[in-house]
Amino acid sequence: MVANSHNQQFQLAARPQGEIKPTDFKLVDVPMPVPGAGEVLVEVQYLTAEPAMKGWMEARVDYVAPIKIGDVMRGQGAGIVLQSDLPDYPKGTLVSGHFGWRRYLVSDDRSIPLRKIPVGVPSTTALNVLGITGLTAWFGMLDIGMPQPGNTVLVSGAAGATGSVAGQLARIAGARVIGIAGGQEKCNWLVSELGFEAAIDYKSEDTSARVAQLCPDGVDVYFDNVGGEILDVALNNLADRARIVLCGGISRYNESGPIAGPANYFNLVYRRARMEGFIVLDYASRFSEAISGLTKHLDSGELHHRETVLQGFEQLPQALMDLFRGSNMGKQLVAVNP
Ligand SMILES: NC(=O)c1ccc[n+]([C@@H]2O[C@H](COP(=O)([O-])OP(=O)(O)OC[C@H]3O[C@@H](n4cnc5c(N)ncnc54)[C@H](OP(=O)(O)O)[C@@H]3O)[C@@H](O)[C@H]2O)c1
Repeated sequence: MVANSHNQQFQLAARPQGEIKPTDFKLVDVPMPVPGAGEVLVEVQYLTAEPAMKGWMEARVDYVAPIKIGDVMRGQGAGIVLQSDLPDYPKGTLVSGHFGWRRYLVSDDRSIPLRKIPVGVPSTTALNVLGITGLTAWFGMLDIGMPQPGNTVLVSGAAGATGSVAGQLARIAGARVIGIAGGQEKCNWLVSELGFEAAIDYKSEDTSARVAQLCPDGVDVYFDNVGGEILDVALNNLADRARIVLCGGISRYNESGPIAGPANYFNLVYRRARMEGFIVLDYASRFSEAISGLTKHLDSGELHHRETVLQGFEQLPQALMDLFRGSNMGKQLVAVNP
């Protein structure tokens, strides 16, 4: 038994109506899980908050099963093995996986598959660049966006977890990268630390005029995290044979009913352009390829990253709500036991 242990989990209490509210979650005390033969006990140290969770809570999306009312909130986590009857995961091993919003869990490596965090890699990096958002950036930008040297690449949600990595991968591929993000602090970070050529603060600047000014020959790749009006701006400024990567559309996630499409999609025809959506889970068989590529860029110092870490397990609902206000720079995480 773990001394002074106190196990808790967040369960889904209600499907969000409009914006996510604290009452959509229920914090529940549950017994400490006891590992049996062939199992490990994991103490969760970090958990993620991600915009896609809203779709799982609402039962709006169909690429994964919705979270049922009363189920543990789904989410990625990183933790440490406290007790082990699995030779591959001895006590003290750092692991990550689909842990859900809970403090402790038991796994036999099949019920909740475990991934070892490589020695020397901080758990926060494992959930950020080497986690699901880093993988999303990798496959979305490189497989679908296919940036070429000299291309102009535009990224929205550019200071978030996915956008910040996607933009840097395009820069590493030799493209000139323009970011769109909310606020001057984020824009400064994109240019001064991440090597974007320029950044547009969509909250205080005329995004349409700035994109036209910064991309006079058009946008070759647009990596879309936000949808809505910014997608319309990108569509109006395409280069011939442009690629639009539909990764997400957070500006519309709080709307009920069907999401309205772009007004000016016909520019895809005039520009002989392509717009393609993707779900990162479809690339599972190639995750190891992306992790080794991302690790190489981390090791060479070309790929920078940042985490916004809220302190304390009870902050998880706030961490998720904050994404919709843009409070995070880089990956939004919660340190479970600060
Ligand atoms: N296709 C896939 O398989 C896949 C996988 C993972 C994630 N995604 C999608 O990728 C996107 C980014 O996810 P993430 O986890 O990396 O989150 P994130 O970008 O770290 O955080 C969300 C960001 O969205 C921006 N935002 C919030 N409301 C907005 C609005 N109304 N208009 C414009 N921007 C807004 C905020 O930044 P600002 O301050 O700049 O507004 C906020 O920081 C999401 O759309 C997500 O659903 C897709």
